[in-house]
Amino acid sequence: MRHVLFQDPDPASAGPPVPVWADAATPTPGPEQVLIEVHAAGLNRADLLQRDADYRPPAGESAVPGLECAGRIVALGSRVTDLRIGDRVCALLGSGGYATHVVAPRAQVLAVPDGWSMTEAAALPEALATAWWNLRMLGGLRPGDRVLVHAANSGVGTMAVRLARALGASVAGTVRTAALAERVRLLGADPVVVSTAADAERTLREQAPEGFDIVLDLVGAAVAGLTLTGLRTGGRWLCVGVLSGDEVALSLRTVIRRRLVLTGGSIRSLPAAEKAAIIADVRRRGPWAAPDGIRPVLAAAYPPAGVTAALEHLERGGLLGKIVLDFSR
Ligand SMILES: NC(=O)c1ccc[n+]([C@@H]2O[C@H](COP(=O)([O-])OP(=O)(O)OC[C@H]3O[C@@H](n4cnc5c(N)ncnc54)[C@H](OP(=O)(O)O)[C@@H]3O)[C@@H](O)[C@H]2O)c1
Repeated sequence: MRHVLFQDPDPASAGPPVPVWADAATPTPGPEQVLIEVHAAGLNRADLLQRDADYRPPAGESAVPGLECAGRIVALGSRVTDLRIGDRVCALLGSGGYATHVVAPRAQVLAVPDGWSMTEAAALPEALATAWWNLRMLGGLRPGDRVLVHAANSGVGTMAVRLARALGASVAGTVRTAALAERVRLLGADPVVVSTAADAERTLREQAPEGFDIVLDLVGAAVAGLTLTGLRTGGRWLCVGVLSGDEVALSLRTVIRRRLVLTGGSIRSLPAAEKAAIIADVRRRGPWAAPDGIRPVLAAAYPPAGVTAALEHLERGGLLGKIVLDFSR
């Protein structure tokens, strides 16, 4: 098999570590695992953070990047009885998705719905599990709730907009540029506020005066003012990402007076049993696999040889949805 590792750049270059394909031994699945021949792998912001050494893989995970993939099962662990060789699956991974083969815990595998391409399926697990865990399991989203999604154009954000809508919520979003606002509106978010505008807080107050039950925060410090402006009394601030910084001035008196709830967590570093519980809940109750179910938004696909360009594209931002590596290209 082959997989990607980040190598230090040429000392003369000031650039970041470089993704390089390398040969490796094909792993054997443990009793509760399956071996997947990877047909497509999703990229995530965490891959860039890992490349830049801001985010180490959790203990027990390999240095091979990649938090999700789709492909066919080519070997089964001895205790896996409900899957078959050849099944089309996608999987939430702790690492290792940028590879021709990867082992995945059986409990973190989902069937690829009929009619879906492998590239679509590869873009599903991380964004869906993150959105589901936060909105449903931590945030307790109910039909009729009002949800604000920061970075609504991102991989997780686009999925969260679609998921919250599918669960009966009304959804608003923030993005950094006006060009993306219209595209996010077409996904079903309204209003969509440009968070970098000087009058963003006033605009949000005017356009969503009733406030939000839930804010899904993928951004952190730069939008904390919008979060606190937007939350209604009793609202829930679901802290998922801190790309713009992790320190905010927060009046605890405000938290008490407005009965705010703040949650946080990183899906990658959850114990295996908790990841399994999220995927089991998605499998049981998620609207993702229905014929008219929600699908991930794909921004671009690259061949495996284009992994450097794919990561550069992700880093440039301004995307709507996810980037994937497509191994059929
Ligand atoms: N806690 C968890 O379990 C978990 C799981 C998955 C993801 N995450 C986090 O969720 C966030 C989104 O992940 P993703 O993979 O969906 O990301 P992504 O597709 O790469 O999108 C990143 C988003 O963040 C915006 N952004 C980047 N830097 C920013 C800054 N300095 N200020 C404001 N906005 C900024 C980008 O805006 P532009 O497009 O305009 O550049 C884009 O909307 C990341 O922080 C990631 O680490 C957390």
